[in-house]
Amino acid sequence: MGELHGKRILLGVTGSIAAYKCPELVRRLQDRGATVTVVMTEAAARFVTPLTLQTISRRPVYTQLFDPREEILHLTLVEEADLFLIAPATANFIGKAASGLADDLLSTLFLAARGPVLLAPAMDAVMWDHPVTRGQLRQLREAGIDIVGPEAGPLASGLVGMGRLADPEAMIAAAAECLVSRTALAGERVLVTAGPTREPLDPVRFLSNRSSGKMGYAIARTAARRGAHVTLISGPTALPLPFGVEVVTIETAADMAAALDKRFPDSTILIMAAAVADYRPKAAETRKIARRSEGLRVELEAVPDLLAQLRPDRPRQLMVGFAAETEELVPRATRKLRSKQLDLIAANLVGPSLGFDMEEIALTLLDRTGGVRELGLLPKTVAAGRLLDAVVALRQKA
Ligand code: CTP
Repeated sequence: MGELHGKRILLGVTGSIAAYKCPELVRRLQDRGATVTVVMTEAAARFVTPLTLQTISRRPVYTQLFDPREEILHLTLVEEADLFLIAPATANFIGKAASGLADDLLSTLFLAARGPVLLAPAMDAVMWDHPVTRGQLRQLREAGIDIVGPEAGPLASGLVGMGRLADPEAMIAAAAECLVSRTALAGERVLVTAGPTREPLDPVRFLSNRSSGKMGYAIARTAARRGAHVTLISGPTALPLPFGVEVVTIETAADMAAALDKRFPDSTILIMAAAVADYRPKAAETRKIARRSEGLRVELEAVPDLLAQLRPDRPRQLMVGFAAETEELVPRATRKLRSKQLDLIAANLVGPSLGFDMEEIALTLLDRTGGVRELGLLPKTVAAGRLLDAVVALRQKA
């Protein structure tokens, strides 16, 4: 049975060249069990015909606000949908949606929708990069609209950059996540750590690692969407702050330890996705270390294992760790699960082109009952959802 079994999807198509991908998208949504009703803007109908989408969806395609078939079409169409997916969403549509303009059927539906809405932007890289577009997307996110993509790659303009419509499988995964119960984690207080730490050598230099924070941020965002109260303790990252999450920013492992001391007692689930330093300079110089031709020796001291030091109040508190390994994934992760006394550990292989700073991750989940599950290579947002499913399953076993 497909992950969208029995779901009614209202698909809004706007006037981007990427609209030519919509017939295939409708097919795939149907293959996963969804019923798809299409609404198009006039501009979209220049890129793909209503007849094509009508034939594939086997349902009427709507284009007009004042449709003689039904008077209050904009209300019934959104009321009857479990999810409103707008793909491709042009910069023009995003601008209208963010400003609350409702001058055609699709933009009117957008304002009338109260259920989950997922936007899949597609536009040229220069438009995507415009601060106005950025601001509008932030505004839409803050209003609870989910966004999938865009992706980097060749664009219709001949440029290569961000702006391609998300891959159909990424859209399907995001659609499935939008439909997951928004209360699966209700009542839980989830504490997530993310990103690297920085350990100063002197006022201008530090030791750090390649962690981008993407995995931890995806977990924080998904947990909030599923109804948890979420606090994110984040090392330095270049990521936008997730919506609906309380964020505590830190720099060093010592800052992280202090933030954990303060926030851990109140939490019911800890997910330690941060790449905390294992070593730090024994003493940070207060003045910038000058260049010396004979080189420099720095003495490093061990950083305590923050996760292993915590004393959870079981069964109220669930403990989830990560294990980044370059080899022997399962045996090493199993040892960490036991020695740190965790309920669950998410293990992944890391290397020059694996794991860190990538959009996708292949996690293996090992739990305290001996369960081992390989998730395969997934977008980090999807992997975050699977990890949280496993946490909920363990909570139910407790
Ligand atoms: N961790 C921690 N404090 C540290 C180092 C790691 O709390 N000083 C946590 C990480 O957040 C992660 C887990 O421990 O959840 C495992 O981290 P990892 O780097 O894989 O392993 P280490 O325990 O540091 O062991 P090793 O470096 O030997 O692989």
